[in-house]
Amino acid sequence: MPVDRCICRDISFSDLKALAAQTGADFKELRTATNCATACSLCGPYIRKMLATGETDQPLMAPAELTRWIDQSEPCCTSKPMPIMRAKR
Ligand code: FES
Repeated sequence: MPVDRCICRDISFSDLKALAAQTGADFKELRTATNCATACSLCGPYIRKMLATGETDQPLMAPAELTRWIDQSEPCCTSKPMPIMRAKR
């Protein structure tokens, strides 16, 4: 199954690509404008790759490729951490 969107914000990479083309927005500016990559942030590497390559439907990345597209200088998440779900006993 290809990865084609920020699932948390329900924004497709095609829409993000169009917005970037219209405005010249980089990753941080797209994130600010749309809130993409601000919840779980798992889409971040895919959005960075989309901006670099134009690919909007991407196969799941292997860990080595994910590492390549993660910006180590940025926090991985800008929103509140998700609460940990605990099973009731
Ligand atoms: S998939 Fe984009 S923030 Fe979770």
